[in-house]
Amino acid sequence: MTEPIRAPRGTLDVLPDDGRRRLELLRIADDVFARAGYGPIETPIFESTELFARGVGETTDIVEKEMFTFEDQGGRSITLRPEGTASACRAYVEHGMHKLPQPVKLWYWGPFFRYEAPQAGRFRQFTQVGVEAVGSDDPSLDAESILLLAELLDGAGTQGVRLRISSLGTPETRRAYSDELREHLRAREDLLSDDVRARIDRNPLRAFDSDHPGTQAALSDAPRLIDRLNPEDAEHFSRVRALLDAAGQPYEVDGTLVRGLDYYTRTVFEFESTELGAQSALGGGGRYDGLIEQLGGPPTPGVGWAAGIERILLAASGDDEETRVRRSVFVATTDDADPVQAFDIARELRLRGLHAELEQAGRSLKGQLKHADRLGADYVVIVGDEDVQVKDMSTGDQRPAASPGEAVELVAAGGRA
Ligand code: HAM
Repeated sequence: MTEPIRAPRGTLDVLPDDGRRRLELLRIADDVFARAGYGPIETPIFESTELFARGVGETTDIVEKEMFTFEDQGGRSITLRPEGTASACRAYVEHGMHKLPQPVKLWYWGPFFRYEAPQAGRFRQFTQVGVEAVGSDDPSLDAESILLLAELLDGAGTQGVRLRISSLGTPETRRAYSDELREHLRAREDLLSDDVRARIDRNPLRAFDSDHPGTQAALSDAPRLIDRLNPEDAEHFSRVRALLDAAGQPYEVDGTLVRGLDYYTRTVFEFESTELGAQSALGGGGRYDGLIEQLGGPPTPGVGWAAGIERILLAASGDDEETRVRRSVFVATTDDADPVQAFDIARELRLRGLHAELEQAGRSLKGQLKHADRLGADYVVIVGDEDVQVKDMSTGDQRPAASPGEAVELVAAGGRA
């Protein structure tokens, strides 16, 4: 026998039960975002490599070691998108969206790719849902963005959710702070992990992402960027917080919050869940007021987030029983029944909006009733040689119908069992 072929490492097959939960989440997302004026956008799954090198940042883990990059037949460097913000901003510039009334509010859902070590909740192909509001630096957009993710997580039923927020200020503030932090880390170099030590020069802030005990000890008395904000950035952050407070949204200000992408300015945030293991981030984002300009557009502020669908569903209770509101019917057949009649009844029930399945695997009548029970059918229509019966699965009552049409009427009219 030949070896069966398996899916690539770190990828995921979505089977029907999960597929249904994902579609339900997509429906909630569309509803939540549309009510706040966000419209759906789709961008290509591959982009020029330069977009992410310029947008996400050359010294980030994503660009340094996690991108699926290849040369196409025309010799261009192509990358499977590792994130969606750079693409949304490219599209904003490319389609002249700065001429539209601002802010332009967009949302997306789709596959993203990062070459990471696969583990629970971490894949090489995963699905993100995200929103971006481009064209205004009003603090209400930061707060709105955060609250949209909170509402989505709530609608999805995620458990153990915690929100952390911070502000990274302007690139100038961050540069001055980086120098200060670099000096602090250099004085404690022997405590640091190799990884953090190697990056002191290029990206000292990423040290806050490390769970290495020595690195954490070295950071315990480090200065915090949040204490170095200029007055305008501090005021912006306090207005964002006031809006979250007024909305009753719990959060924790965490000066150690750094994100894995370089484009952030001012507000950053992350939602986590205690239901997830080491990969506890459900979603995160922030403001990126310099990104559009970096991509060749006019100076344009923006704010948004992305969240991982697989992680949201892992952290949700998984009880989707409530979503099954439609009446469900199984059409069973005896050995000598007319298969055309059974097929017709099932089709008619589906046209009436009911969930109807029929016997399609040659089970005995007893086996079919067992199967109907397993499917959670409210009714079974039993098609015999000369008669049609309707069985109410909640009471066990079974009664004959005068015709196939009457069986359909009986089931369609019945209350939810
Ligand atoms: P990010 O924090 O890199 O942000 O990713 C957002 C979310 O995507 C994570 O919190 C996580 O749930 C999910 N995710 C990321 N990598 C993986 C993976 N390997 N496997 C499973 N899930 C994963 C961004 O991507 C930014 N573009 C967010 C943003 C939008 N900022 C502003 N606008």
